[in-house]
Amino acid sequence: MAQFNLPEPQPDPLLQLIGKYRADTRPDKIDLGVGVYRDDHGNTPVLAAVKAAENKLQQEQQSKSYLGLTGDNEFVEQLGTLLFNDATIALGAQTPGGSGALRLAAEIYNIAHPQGTLWIGTPTWPNHLPLTESAGVKTATFDYFDKDTQQIMFDSSLEAIDNAKAGDAIILHGCCHNPTGADLTPEQWQQLVSLLVEKNIIPIVDLAYHGLGDGLEDDLAATRLITTQCEEVLVAASCSKNFGLYRDRTGAVYMTSHEKSTATRAQAVFGQIARKIYSMPPDHGAAVVRLILQDSTLKKQWHDELKTMTERVKSLRQSIAERFEVLEFVTRQKGMFSLLPLSPVQVNSLIEDHAVYLAGDGRINVAGCQLDQIERFVTSLEAVGFTGPQ
Ligand code: LMR
Repeated sequence: MAQFNLPEPQPDPLLQLIGKYRADTRPDKIDLGVGVYRDDHGNTPVLAAVKAAENKLQQEQQSKSYLGLTGDNEFVEQLGTLLFNDATIALGAQTPGGSGALRLAAEIYNIAHPQGTLWIGTPTWPNHLPLTESAGVKTATFDYFDKDTQQIMFDSSLEAIDNAKAGDAIILHGCCHNPTGADLTPEQWQQLVSLLVEKNIIPIVDLAYHGLGDGLEDDLAATRLITTQCEEVLVAASCSKNFGLYRDRTGAVYMTSHEKSTATRAQAVFGQIARKIYSMPPDHGAAVVRLILQDSTLKKQWHDELKTMTERVKSLRQSIAERFEVLEFVTRQKGMFSLLPLSPVQVNSLIEDHAVYLAGDGRINVAGCQLDQIERFVTSLEAVGFTGPQ
């Protein structure tokens, strides 16, 4: 008799797309699925700055002995310097990717606020709810974006915060909203942050696509506003996209606080939580990022490569809109994603009949498109009866 009565596994819909795309033998298939940057040849190359840092690491690394529960502390510090204003007190831990950072953020929130509710605007990254709920956090959702009209539902976001209780938390996409690409304006951010301060709501900032919207400094402006004005903030930072380190699982979680003692305590607690889950994070990606950020030449090279990626995404957005004017809204959105107002039937037909791969909710990864694929992408949209926003 079977000893393990396991439930039917539910495949992750986004990651499932990767396998389905690979297995598709149609030569003109287009991959707008999972959030991975591609160059105009369809490749996701290792950045030259990363290669150089890896070579350096291979020459210089003398030991692979344990570093400690919070991983490579110099990496955490260097990355923190890149992300936050000079005056911000930000202490944290290296984590396995941005997802590991989110998990630690959810865990520490749950320890401090076991009765709290974590608010999440929808649509959102499909793993936000399962990831935070599996840390034991109670969640609630509100409407962030109307896919049919392509408008941010700012009033409903403010209303949700207004109805939340002190000590509740909210996930905020620091920039390049996933899956909509629709970010708040600076004025809206200020209004939202003022309300968070007034209501004592704790922001958990998910920072995964910084540098790929309007450039690093602009993309970090909202995070810096939040961490400057809110007393305590949790920030989950990923290096997957902007350093191209996807499979190396490189990220960090921070507590920023107006009180140094709070951030210091949080850093130690991050380590304790990590110990109970995976003990210590993998070293390689963090060591690579540290070497890049410590070396002005490598850092410049990385900035230049990031800029090239950003420019490409922006110009793809322009080219797509120029070819099909009902897609004009994509030029107003930022980062890798836009959420097209497509029905599930239309999405299914795009994948099955036209070999255009996209997420089930209609999300496209603009950065996955090649210039010479735009024509076929647009004609496929027309073929499934896509007419744009209402
Ligand atoms: C995505 O949204 O496509 C990426 O963040 C990859 C992932 O882990 O889901």
